[in-house]
Amino acid sequence: MLHVVLYQPEIPPNTGNIIRLCANAGVALHLVHPLGFEITAARVKRAGLDYREMANVREHVDLETCIKDIAPTRLFAVSTRGRQRYTDVQYQDGDAFLFGPETRGLPQHLLDSLLQERVLRIPMRPDNRSLNLSNAVAVIVYEAWRQAAFAGGT
Ligand SMILES: C[S@@+](CC[C@H](N)C(=O)[O-])C[C@H]1O[C@@H](n2cnc3c(N)ncnc32)[C@H](O)[C@@H]1O
Repeated sequence: MLHVVLYQPEIPPNTGNIIRLCANAGVALHLVHPLGFEITAARVKRAGLDYREMANVREHVDLETCIKDIAPTRLFAVSTRGRQRYTDVQYQDGDAFLFGPETRGLPQHLLDSLLQERVLRIPMRPDNRSLNLSNAVAVIVYEAWRQAAFAGGT
């Protein structure tokens, strides 16, 4: 199984889209606190999500605990500051992908703690800001799942 880790996500509809995406692709989703919103049964219902989609979601008090719990095969950060093109990596079962919050991105010290080849970039045209968080997650998840021949998908 692959893992998506959202570090301190801020905007509820983005996380809602990502919950559905991860459920569809069979990817475990991890939310690292503090979140910019509360996850309550009423909010989940209002967002049109159901219990099967939520079964894939786990919350963690901080990143250290999250990574310890997942024990990923490899940890990749996904950042506009990355140098490694995301299509040039062979992904493996158990890999985890860490995404930054919408307004801040991932902290620089966290990116500096990883090998350069573990910081993935999705190409963009020059002078553009960044992709929407949920779009960036979709791009990475579908590339990793494509490489696994869409295992379990129809
Ligand atoms: C809206 S962006 C954050 C913007 C922030 N100014 C930055 O540059 O990181 C939210 C998250 O989406 C992901 N993201 C968006 N565009 C990306 C790209 N072109 N390459 C890699 N990750 C991207 C990253 O995980 C980023 O932290």
